[in-house]
Amino acid sequence: MKVLVTGGAGYIGSHTCVALLEAGYDVACIDNLDNSSYEAIRRVEELTGKKIPFYEKNILDREALKAVFEAEKPDAVIHFAALKAVGESVAKPLEYYHTNVYGTITLLEVMREEGVKKLVYSSSATVYSSVKEMPVNEESFAYVTTNPYGWTKIMCEQIIRDTAKADPELSAALLRYFNPVGAHPSGRIGEDPAGIPNNLMPYIAQVASGKLQRLSVYGNDYPTRDGTGVRDYIHVCDLADGHVLALGRIAGGKGVYTYNLGSGKGTSVLEMVKAFEEASGRKIPYVIAPRRPGDIAEVFADASLAEKELGFKTKRDVFDMCRDLWNWQSHNPNGYEK
Ligand code: UD1
Repeated sequence: MKVLVTGGAGYIGSHTCVALLEAGYDVACIDNLDNSSYEAIRRVEELTGKKIPFYEKNILDREALKAVFEAEKPDAVIHFAALKAVGESVAKPLEYYHTNVYGTITLLEVMREEGVKKLVYSSSATVYSSVKEMPVNEESFAYVTTNPYGWTKIMCEQIIRDTAKADPELSAALLRYFNPVGAHPSGRIGEDPAGIPNNLMPYIAQVASGKLQRLSVYGNDYPTRDGTGVRDYIHVCDLADGHVLALGRIAGGKGVYTYNLGSGKGTSVLEMVKAFEEASGRKIPYVIAPRRPGDIAEVFADASLAEKELGFKTKRDVFDMCRDLWNWQSHNPNGYEK
């Protein structure tokens, strides 16, 4: 079975390519390398000993996308290719709606024209940002969010649901990721953020390597056990495995399945700092800073549906996430750029 991975050179995409190849799937990839590097694909090939036909094309380019489908004849698509920075989406809403929403529509149209009926979609726990009760399950969904990036995820989920309603042959899995962190244990692939990282763990990793001076902890007055924000961190390799399981689920079913992919466990910012210090042997200097606008106190998953229906259970803990992140960071201080 062949899977076309859009955005396969990115952080989650590249780890998922490894998991797919190891599970025996054939993989082809389309990525415009806007926020990713071909080197990631090269290293996936090196890790797995398998080739990935690669197309440096934009999914918004319908003719190019159609040509990829015609050349590769995929049986299923995993759709990662999108813009993903919350703050940037507030400043550039049209770019976000264009790339994320129109990109997904273009992909669905080409899938329909080419008769491809299986889709795994990369959604986010950001769809729960207005929910107060924790943990969040798939039904907690409220059709409200705080930023254009979040709206694109809500809209694309709905577009896929409606498309599947109109085409009973289509089956799709909407995967809501919590906070993916860590790297492949080989240290060969990992997250390579452009510029100063927005997210906690890549920031901590760059403090540890000396690229950044100290971490700002955004708020210690939240109603959580130590006052800092609590999130559900998931090792990127567990997340990648979740995609393989989801693909298995839709291969044998019709309709749309929605799953939280998280560990089900909340960890605070200071607990993550401590875990990283233990795993890396490096001290992480930090200061307490004001809350970051738009942040919420805590979010963590009820991950029981994915466990029940997919057999999905995270295998790697917070220590593994920090160890593998540090292994990647210390061997690739400048990411893929040697
Ligand atoms: C962010 C995105 C979310 C996306 C997710 C992907 C925002 C507002 N949300 O989630 O849509 O799906 O990444 O991983 O950007 N923190 C610090 N100092 C820092 C950075 C973060 O204290 O320098 C804290 C935050 O306040 C938060 C926690 O660390 O409590 C995690 O933050 P982050 O890694 O940015 O993830 P989220 O905000 O949960």
